Amino acid sequence: MEDINKLREEFVRECKGISSLKQLNDLRIKYLGKKGLLTQRLKALSALPPAERPAAGKEINILKRYVEAEIKRLEGDLSTLESRKKVATGFIDITIPGKYIPAGSRHPINRVLDEIVDIFLFMGFTVEEGPEVEMDYYNFEALNIPRDHPARDMQDTFYVETDGERQSSSPVDKEGAESDVVLRTHTSPVQIRVMEKQKPPLRFIAPGKVYRCDSDVSHTPMFHQVEGLMVGEDITFANVKSVLKLFVQSLFSVDTPVRFRPSYFPFTEPSAEIDIGCVLCSGAGCRVCKGTGWIEVLGAGMVHPKVFEGVGYDTEKYTGFAFGMGVERLTMLKYGIDDIRLFYENDLRFLRQF
Ligand code: DAH
Repeated sequence: MEDINKLREEFVRECKGISSLKQLNDLRIKYLGKKGLLTQRLKALSALPPAERPAAGKEINILKRYVEAEIKRLEGDLSTLESRKKVATGFIDITIPGKYIPAGSRHPINRVLDEIVDIFLFMGFTVEEGPEVEMDYYNFEALNIPRDHPARDMQDTFYVETDGERQSSSPVDKEGAESDVVLRTHTSPVQIRVMEKQKPPLRFIAPGKVYRCDSDVSHTPMFHQVEGLMVGEDITFANVKSVLKLFVQSLFSVDTPVRFRPSYFPFTEPSAEIDIGCVLCSGAGCRVCKGTGWIEVLGAGMVHPKVFEGVGYDTEKYTGFAFGMGVERLTMLKYGIDDIRLFYENDLRFLRQF
């Protein structure tokens, strides 16, 4: 009993001198370790006369539990203290900037595409889609593009090889048969697909990828277009002008000059191309506008009666207008980008600027 009391006093005294976790651990080993003071005494119990063992054992165990609890308490106090000290002594520099987690950003093409869609949604247009692998019929024929039209030239169109049957109307060249399946060269076929399914009035845009066998500073084999179509009973060229002028001035700025220039497309009559005042030189004339002060941004026109006939619309009752634009071109003008290939090289130094 006396021995145990002395041991308790010694432990209490020793605790007072503990000021670090390291010292505390030494203390734990000294009392509770395999050869520790308390462990030794528990082992020594067997040497006592059996009658004395229970009382002695009880005393030792009470002290042991006390030692364990004290060490645990001290450990809590010391670790809080030590971490506070680390902060106070600058060991943890809370002024160091946080870890940089790189975040992606939207691709410039998608940003402009979203803007275009928003402008037309605001004007009450809906959004439609069509397939990128398209039938010759929808891409050309139904749009009044005759067999000998330059747009059907092998140089522009990617033909998709198909197994087996080909329509008898397919032209055959010395390379073999031209396929009836193409990668769509424009988004105009969506006009036909929607008109086949829906009756007028209709008002929609069709954004998407298109493909042409072409590649240089201003052409990539894949690029994006947004098609538009509005059909109803009293649609006139005045609607073309108001809708497209509002569109262009929403995308660029309210004071962007806009002009409509007569043009030709097989699926519209009359047709026009829409130019804006050059955004780079403000009309003074530069390399980008080839000295003219104007840049073409849209094709448009009144839907050709042959197109309506093909989808079974009453040409006496309905009129409509269509338009198409290239998204890469608009993006280049909006951000002053002079090489279209930058969009598809995945150079992060370019992409991070958006
Ligand atoms: N499809 C034409 C092209 O790819 C663009 C176009 C012009 C679409 C006039 C139209 C339009 O709907 O009316 O160059």
